[in-house]
Amino acid sequence: MFKLAYVSVATKTLSSVDLQNILESAITNNRESDVTGILLFNGTNFMQVIEGPQKAVEKVFDQICKDDRHRNVVVIYRERTAVREFDEAPMLLQIVPASHGDAPDGMTITKDIALFLPSSLAKHFRTILESFDTRRG
Ligand SMILES: Cc1cc2nc3c(=O)[nH]c(=O)nc-3n(C[C@H](O)[C@H](O)[C@H](O)COP(=O)(O)O)c2cc1C
Repeated sequence: MFKLAYVSVATKTLSSVDLQNILESAITNNRESDVTGILLFNGTNFMQVIEGPQKAVEKVFDQICKDDRHRNVVVIYRERTAVREFDEAPMLLQIVPASHGDAPDGMTITKDIALFLPSSLAKHFRTILESFDTRRG
């Protein structure tokens, strides 16, 4: 099992429809590729974790990198793991509070992203994901 996480910058203001489109292709493709994960969006930046067999994860990630709906993709975590931890969905989208700017129209903001993180997650990785919500604390 392999886990990869990155952050990136949305290239334009994304609507809830744009986000649904991203999510729909992610769910379809990831299900086929045995990939799961979580996608966080704060109105400006994405943080995404993708998990699955290493080859499948790298392939999905290559596709994601080519997507012009975001840029400046920076890998922040790349690690083998014994078991799959993000097993809830092929891709789970959560909107987190932004330090500035607005959340996409009509999208529910998740106040506590920790509720959506697997309890088995290593602390050094959990800290990165939780810190994406810059309004915490
Ligand atoms: C922030 C972001 C996250 C994405 N996550 C995934 C993903 O997890 N899996 C996936 O297949 N495509 C994901 N995509 C979409 C891909 O970049 C690409 O559009 C898609 O794989 C193309 O497949 P399709 O032609 O079947 O829609 C993501 C795109 C963006 C902008």
